[in-house]
Amino acid sequence: MVSLESLGMKKNWLYEIVVSSYSGQTANFAPFGVRTIDYKNIIIEMYKGSATLKNILRLGEFAVNVVDDPIIFYNALYCMKKMHFSSAKMITAPVVVDSPATIEVRLKETEEREKSYILKAEVLHIDFRQKSQLTNRAKSLALESLILSTRKTLFPEKEMERMLRENYRVVKKVAPESEYEKMMHDLLTDCLK
Ligand SMILES: Cc1cc2nc3c(=O)[nH]c(=O)nc-3n(C[C@H](O)[C@H](O)[C@H](O)COP(=O)(O)O)c2cc1C
Repeated sequence: MVSLESLGMKKNWLYEIVVSSYSGQTANFAPFGVRTIDYKNIIIEMYKGSATLKNILRLGEFAVNVVDDPIIFYNALYCMKKMHFSSAKMITAPVVVDSPATIEVRLKETEEREKSYILKAEVLHIDFRQKSQLTNRAKSLALESLILSTRKTLFPEKEMERMLRENYRVVKKVAPESEYEKMMHDLLTDCLK
């Protein structure tokens, strides 16, 4: 059986995906960040006010669609009519047919915070369509940071440092203990010398 591990997920890394859910008969799509700590469950923090969050708290079932193209995130956010979908196999949820893989999940635990909910959901089924890369921000942030490091003279003093520190903060969050984290640490140290 296809597993989160075989999709290329690393424990504790944050991947950008599209969650699909139903509000009555209407399909809803929105980008979120997802992580796993055990390869059996996925965890998502959803901020209050999200339609997806409402659907999930009501229905308890949703799909996590792997996305390797930012255009799909754009369509999910701003042009939902361009989202092509069909039905999930094991749950009541729409699935994105252009997605390389869809993870069908059932809500298991919720933790309410001041501004968000932490949702833990069990993986029931993975529909694998084609091999792809999961979207994780660390790689592109590392590249952007390298480019930035060569353009010191173009920015006001401290501006480059501020941007590099922000990129480092995000890389540590989305790819803890990765080569990208180490590279960002070394880059910052060198740039601040
Ligand atoms: C790549 C990406 C990742 C996102 N990750 C999250 C997230 O992890 N949690 C969250 O609450 N919102 C996240 N958002 C913002 C939601 O997608 C956005 O608030 C959306 O409008 C929610 O739509 P909905 O109201 O249909 O649920 C993300 C947006 C993008 C573009």
